Amino acid sequence: MKLKIAAISDMHYTPEPKVQVPKRHGDYAPAFVDAAVQMINDDVRPDILLVAGDIVDMPEQEALLAEIAPHFSNIACPMVVIPGNHDPAPEIFYKYMPEPPPFIDINGHRIAVFPNDSGANGYKASRRPEESYRFGPNDGTPVLMLQHVPIALDGETSSIHTYENAEGIIDDALSHNAVFSIAAHFHGGAAPYFRCRLPHLMIPSLTEEPCSFVSFTFENRRLVQYTIHYMDKEFLK
Ligand SMILES: [Fe+2]
Repeated sequence: MKLKIAAISDMHYTPEPKVQVPKRHGDYAPAFVDAAVQMINDDVRPDILLVAGDIVDMPEQEALLAEIAPHFSNIACPMVVIPGNHDPAPEIFYKYMPEPPPFIDINGHRIAVFPNDSGANGYKASRRPEESYRFGPNDGTPVLMLQHVPIALDGETSSIHTYENAEGIIDDALSHNAVFSIAAHFHGGAAPYFRCRLPHLMIPSLTEEPCSFVSFTFENRRLVQYTIHYMDKEFLK
């Protein structure tokens, strides 16, 4: 069975332009979300939308999260949203965003959702072993993992960001039939990468130039399509 996924991330909604990062347009995040939702509904037509975190730019910006949340409500497919390291903690985040179940079985695949991983030294992340229940029952269903920070080992990608306990997470993932890992955090994004123990991709930032999101399709546990969708940034002028 085919599972088509659209994935957006790293809107970094902020009231003012971020002068230190001129190519990031977080002050236009609601307009970017509106435009992406329309493209996804009209053109991409996925089975599910994944939103991989850093919706706002600062964890204390709860009011901005409340303001941008309704902009996701027009999506026509099921949606899974997780917080990133720039968002409020999950217990606040999910006051405004729909809280996903630990895993979702859809079209012959399972999406395991990891919203509770914590930050670690050097912009890294860490996962507690108790989070393993999010893989669901070991019944042979191929699992796609979703978390904000990429799970990669040294030298696998150009991103320096990963989990401090990545090796153990990968061991656990493979023992739970994980076939792919979906993350963001690295704003340039990264195409699907397979020369590693746990293949993965990184979703690009929606609001940081070139301003894009991705869609991809799994068919019987294999990736068969991957597309980068570039945003029309007319509203920035
Ligand atoms: Fe980010």
